[in-house]
Amino acid sequence: MIKSDYIKSLLNKAKYNIKTIVLPEGEDERVLEAAHLIAEQNAARLIILGNEEQMAAYYADKGWNTEGIVFVNPETSPYLQTYTELLYNLRKEKGLTYDEAKKLVLNYNYFGTLMIKSGHADGMVSGADHSTADTVRPALQIIKSAKKGHSASSFFIMISNNEPYIFTDCGIIINPTDKELADIALDAAESAIRFGIDPNVAMLSFSTKGSGKGEEVEKVVSATKIAQKALKSSEYEDMGIQIDGELQADAAVCDIVAAKKAPKSPVAGKARVLVFPNLDAGNICYKLLQRLGGCEAYGPILQGLNSPVNDLSRGCSAEDIVGAIAITCIQATKEK
Ligand SMILES: CC(C)(COP(=O)(O)OP(=O)(O)OC[C@H]1O[C@@H](n2cnc3c(N)ncnc32)[C@H](O)[C@@H]1OP(=O)(O)O)[C@@H](O)C(=O)NCCC(=O)NCCS
Repeated sequence: MIKSDYIKSLLNKAKYNIKTIVLPEGEDERVLEAAHLIAEQNAARLIILGNEEQMAAYYADKGWNTEGIVFVNPETSPYLQTYTELLYNLRKEKGLTYDEAKKLVLNYNYFGTLMIKSGHADGMVSGADHSTADTVRPALQIIKSAKKGHSASSFFIMISNNEPYIFTDCGIIINPTDKELADIALDAAESAIRFGIDPNVAMLSFSTKGSGKGEEVEKVVSATKIAQKALKSSEYEDMGIQIDGELQADAAVCDIVAAKKAPKSPVAGKARVLVFPNLDAGNICYKLLQRLGGCEAYGPILQGLNSPVNDLSRGCSAEDIVGAIAITCIQATKEK
């Protein structure tokens, strides 16, 4: 049973454009349950990596239908050789030997990522039992950024009082430069549009419009200028994106504070996309809101890649995994 109304709405959206999502962690019961919940809703096709007999026995024991689900054991896959060669060819210039590729392909996160690269899957959700770095590194190496010179980053969808917000980057880029921060803001604005969230982007700081000083503030001011300049290009035309900063969090989301601190800002008071100045701020903030503030948190969701690969928190529930799969399906749908 899915409890979150927001996840239910995402699943309904995913059903209109069925995608194939690979789940590399078939040894984890939460993953098996999430796949069952998704299959029950006919919201996606799923490929689960692991021991086929054990997974099939688990499903039989639970009385769950396996329609829409394929179990794949990478060790015995007929594509093992193809994926090994693909990995070797993609990474040999980076120093990967063929023997190393043969070993690496058996790492399920690499195997799943190579399935996407080969067109056998549209996206991947992993991380219930792996660190963020182990989950996303294969994607950064193999799937690569969609735009040249543009770093991939991540966001969370945070639900507060039934209102969705985007928090970024809370998962990938540890200390972004001003250019990287601008890229994060622009990608997050596009992510917001994809998920039906107003692309009102606040570049967060401890300062609002010059109230504080220092190089941290200067970085956010500079990132805001870079992002605002990019918005003038044809790429972002007619998308309705607004970016402003530097803003404190209260000025960004509270209209009474905004009226006092940043009355001329087009974003202050109604920001829905919150861009944090670094990973410390973003990661700490989302976890506190999730654990103490009663918000639902979905992510980290990667943005800026050629195909979607998404990470899970190791403390995630089966329902969190369902949410991540639904989000991945929506990202895999190319139209904006
Ligand atoms: C994401 C992360 C793992 C990448 O680090 P890494 O694996 O050491 O990365 P490397 O510097 O070795 O780069 C590996 C490849 O990924 C690419 N890459 C790294 N970061 C990237 C980014 N943000 N966007 C696009 N590509 C990126 C590199 O260019 C490199 O490509 P190449 O090998 O083809 O040249 C690292 O940034 C990290 O640890 N971030 C914090 C994760 C975390 O702990 N989050 C908190 C919990 S949610």
